[in-house]
Amino acid sequence: MLKCAVIGFGGLGKGHTGRAEKMENVELVALCDVDTSQFEKVTTTNLGEGERLDVAKYNLYTDAEEMLEKEQLDFVIIAVPTFLHEKYTVMALEKGLHVFCEKPMGRTVEACENMIEAAKRNNRLLSIGQCLRFDPSYQFIKEAYDTGKFGALKRMELTRYSYAPIWAWENWYMDFERSGGAALDLHVHDVDFINYMLGRPNAVKSDAVHKTSGFDCISTQYIYENGAIVRATGDWSLPESFGFCPDYFVVFENAVIKKGEKGPRVCPADGDAYELDFSDRNMYWNELEYFVQCINESKLNDIVPPESTMQTIEIVMAEMESAESRKEVRI
Ligand SMILES: NC(=O)c1ccc[n+]([C@@H]2O[C@H](COP(=O)([O-])OP(=O)(O)OC[C@H]3O[C@@H](n4cnc5c(N)ncnc54)[C@H](O)[C@@H]3O)[C@@H](O)[C@H]2O)c1
Repeated sequence: MLKCAVIGFGGLGKGHTGRAEKMENVELVALCDVDTSQFEKVTTTNLGEGERLDVAKYNLYTDAEEMLEKEQLDFVIIAVPTFLHEKYTVMALEKGLHVFCEKPMGRTVEACENMIEAAKRNNRLLSIGQCLRFDPSYQFIKEAYDTGKFGALKRMELTRYSYAPIWAWENWYMDFERSGGAALDLHVHDVDFINYMLGRPNAVKSDAVHKTSGFDCISTQYIYENGAIVRATGDWSLPESFGFCPDYFVVFENAVIKKGEKGPRVCPADGDAYELDFSDRNMYWNELEYFVQCINESKLNDIVPPESTMQTIEIVMAEMESAESRKEVRI
């Protein structure tokens, strides 16, 4: 059994807690949050209403350092606001623990570098919650690209439209210094998938809209040598009544893949369209299960190596630079 604790019991922390509770070979022993009212709350995020969790069986803390001193742990799940990822990741790694930290990896590239250094220094696993790498629909797209089963990639458009995240502690999402705006928070999912599937682009060309948090909307063209048109847009400036809508549209030589009800809808050049049903597979469960498997089996984390998720942050920073300068930025 691997003993674990959660740092940051807000929207995502509660979700991870519910999953860790159900996971074989994981024993959740402690929770930490600076705001004790979080232990009693059900949080509704853009993913819907969270489940009510019984925290009575856990040791509760408001100070992560104290928790790490007192508890005998194998790993921690870190789901604090982005600007604190580096601090608690490095702290836990230095105590000899493995770390699963939420996305985006860090508020800056330097923060990511420090996290990677700490993982190497302590020979511990560091995995970032870039969950699209574990979403079966996106895995289907990547597999089609890798195997070439639908021919060459011609065009890929990823979008992530949402209302602003208004559930959070101290409204930290709306503070650009803490969150990096929609560019680093919402849009980073699609950037990470593009980076995972196609590797680092040669250059980016972006436009942005600043409304409340700064970079509330960013739209980017990713320039690759193979000439495929690759675009992604993230926007959290939409009305609450709009909800949350991530989407994909991928054109291969011999098929189009678009989002369906329960999985990808495939429209082949030489046959009828069909839809896959992946509704029984959950990306958040998959990413945590993989992390635990990597620890237990001393497996290389080759799906989400931290060097790759840091590269994603580098790409987002280049996008912001491009939007500010109104010029293409080479990476
Ligand atoms: N993978 C995804 O799909 C996804 C979705 C939403 C959020 N996230 C990420 O998860 C992280 C958390 O986001 P959230 O929506 O849960 O935010 P949130 O504000 O709901 O939760 C953060 C929690 O951290 C607590 N906290 C703040 N400072 C702390 C400290 N020093 N020590 C301990 N606890 C502290 C807050 O009280 C709050 O309960 C962010 O990095 C966010 O980008 C990921």
